[in-house]
Amino acid sequence: MGSAMMILLSQCTTTKKTEPKKETPIDLSNVSYETHVKPIMADNCIGCHSGQDAAHDLRLETYLEVKTAIGQHHLLDRIHSEDAPMPPGNLMPVLEQDIIDHWVKNGYKE
Ligand code: HEC
Repeated sequence: MGSAMMILLSQCTTTKKTEPKKETPIDLSNVSYETHVKPIMADNCIGCHSGQDAAHDLRLETYLEVKTAIGQHHLLDRIHSEDAPMPPGNLMPVLEQDIIDHWVKNGYKE
């Protein structure tokens, strides 16, 4: 044992109390558009928000489109909103919501 010293640096930047499930393979401090956000949009959003007939004329198919929608179209509010949920009538699981939140909080990594 001797002089081994353990210094535990905890750099917790999370402000929420709710931790993601232990078994989640996703490091929420390191989410990126390509790996995490894009598949979520593909699974939950672009069925309506893509192409010429995009709902509300809002497309969520590219990095820039999603980033812009967060800045200008209240995307974050809508994915958490009980009153005006996106997707309509059926909010995504909390983990998916968390991923988008952290992506924004951490600076929109591509
Ligand atoms: C079933 C079709 C459908 C799906 C799926 C869907 N949307 Fe929508 N979305 C709409 C419609 C229709 C509107 C316009 C009416 C409204 O605002 O509720 C809209 C509006 C929005 C707006 C508001 C735009 C503004 O300027 O006010 C945002 C943001 C949005 N959607 C994001 C999303 C996100 C993110 C997802 C996936 C998590 C998603 N939507 C999934 C149909 C859909």
